[in-house]
Amino acid sequence: MLVVEEKSKGESQMDIGFIGTGNVGKALAQLFVHAGHHVVMSHRHSVESLSPLIEKLGVNASAGTIAEATKQDLVVLAVPFFAVRELPAPFPNDPIILDVTNYFPNRDGNIMNLQKHEEATSEFVARQLQSKKVVKAFNTIAMARITAMPRPTGDPRRIAVPVASDNKHAKATVIDLIDQIGFDAYDLGDLKDSLPAQSDGPLFISVGTKKDIAQRLKESPNN
Ligand SMILES: NC(=O)c1ccc[n+]([C@@H]2O[C@H](COP(=O)([O-])OP(=O)(O)OC[C@H]3O[C@@H](n4cnc5c(N)ncnc54)[C@H](OP(=O)(O)O)[C@@H]3O)[C@@H](O)[C@H]2O)c1
Repeated sequence: MLVVEEKSKGESQMDIGFIGTGNVGKALAQLFVHAGHHVVMSHRHSVESLSPLIEKLGVNASAGTIAEATKQDLVVLAVPFFAVRELPAPFPNDPIILDVTNYFPNRDGNIMNLQKHEEATSEFVARQLQSKKVVKAFNTIAMARITAMPRPTGDPRRIAVPVASDNKHAKATVIDLIDQIGFDAYDLGDLKDSLPAQSDGPLFISVGTKKDIAQRLKESPNN
């Protein structure tokens, strides 16, 4: 159920590339299209195999190669964490990169500095992709329910999305996008400050308002 009013195409329309068309790709693409943006969906199989998904997403969606997806204004990493290392880098035109990935050592392999929290996983992603415009967001929310969560601005029950980036403009753009699709943003700070949102942090798979998130951080033993 999408309760936020559908917007028509306008000057603020962004071209958003997706790498990965699984749970995250499908759910976030639906929300971005609903907000009036254009999405270019890509995965590592043929472009033609994306036809059923494109048909479902509607006229504001198209299919492309991974290379084409990386050329958009904003690129969503909707792949397993280990796959980030296999992506071509840097992306052309230096886009904003929305990092939705989570690092799980069991699935993604041992990377000691991440396990010891010497580096946040999004800092690792930023190094891999040679980008200063990585924004971490949406990784704490289970995608199975996200399309039923949007609420209008000002609704006291509006869910907040933790967000972090080293780049002010990139973060502001993503915060605006988060608002457009029916969520508040909770600004954690720089990428190094995103540890509480990681898979072993207090905000992981927890849904709440800005107040709830602030409370959870306050109660966190590492606070
Ligand atoms: N599921 C959630 O609720 C959720 C919520 C927040 C964050 N996340 C995180 O978001 C990321 C994606 O999760 P997901 O649930 O969407 O995973 P998923 O359903 O398994 O989808 C992953 C997508 O990435 C593609 N992919 C895999 N390896 C690739 C590679 N080497 N190069 C290019 N594409 C590749 C897959 O294509 P193939 O079909 O070829 O494998 C698939 O399209 C993960 O890091 C996850 O931890 C998940």
